[in-house]
Order: sequence, then structure tokens, then C-alpha cells
Amino acid sequence: MKKILLLNGPNINRLGKREEVYGSFTLQDIEKDVGTLLKKHHYEFDRFQSNHEGELVDCLHRADGNFSGIIFNPAAYTHTSIALHDAIMSIETPVIEVHISNVYQRESFRHTSVTAPACSGQIVGFGLLSYRLAALAFIEEGLK
Ligand code: DQA
Repeated sequence: MKKILLLNGPNINRLGKREEVYGSFTLQDIEKDVGTLLKKHHYEFDRFQSNHEGELVDCLHRADGNFSGIIFNPAAYTHTSIALHDAIMSIETPVIEVHISNVYQRESFRHTSVTAPACSGQIVGFGLLSYRLAALAFIEEGLK
């Protein structure tokens, strides 16, 4: 199948206008960068962003069986959403959690991820490169 979903949670559509810790790139920049990398390696690519927890849950359910891997930044829901944890657990498609900022250097409420234990791995703190590294992890794994 070789198809990757790039999924982003709340406020990621505000990148470029958010705090300095998130850099100056936009969601469109991420999608273009990751899409180009994946296409170069003959992966299809789709993307979705929502500010609503339930829409993210629905998207994960829909993705199961239709994608070979998911790159997911759950944003603030990382720290709170048992529903997203359970949605990731309920699907077979592997999920890599990514964060732009190094959440472990920030406020203590960002130090816990309730979603990461349901994921194959977590990449934090590399800005736009976090997404690229997640894509490379899938590519290197030879994900089909
Ligand atoms: C974030 C980190 C979260 O704590 C925060 O709520 C975000 C973005 C990141 O990518 O660094 O919105 O997921």
C-alpha cells in the first residue's frame, strides 16, 4: 500500500503565528516537506488537521487498513486525551508521535504524553525535522 497519513491536532494550523518555540514555518510547509520526501521514496501521502478531538478519533479509525503508517502530532491532546490513546490502540496501523518543540524542556504539564504509550515511537524537539524523521523511520523500516 505504501501510504502515509500526516495527522495534526489543535492549533497546528496556527503555526507561523504561534509562539517562538514553534519556529516560523507553517503547516503547509510541513505538508510540502514531508509530502516531497515520501513521494521521492514512492509513498503516497495524505494529510488531515483538526482542532477537535472527536474528528481526530474518527480520522484514526478511518485510517486503519487504508494507510501503512501515521505521523501524528496530537498537540495539546497529547497531554490529556485518553480517547486518542484508545483510538491509536484500537487500530493496527502504526503511529509515530511527533512534537515540534522539546516538550520535556517546557512546562511540567507537557512532560506527560498519554498518547505515546500507544505509539510505535516518539520524536520530539526537532522542529519541522521531527516530521521528516518520523517519515524516514517509516521509510527505513521498509513499511509497506
Ligand atoms: C506540540 C507540543 C504541545 O505541548 C502543544 O500543546 C502543541 C504543540 C509540539 O509540536 O511541540 O500544540 O505538540
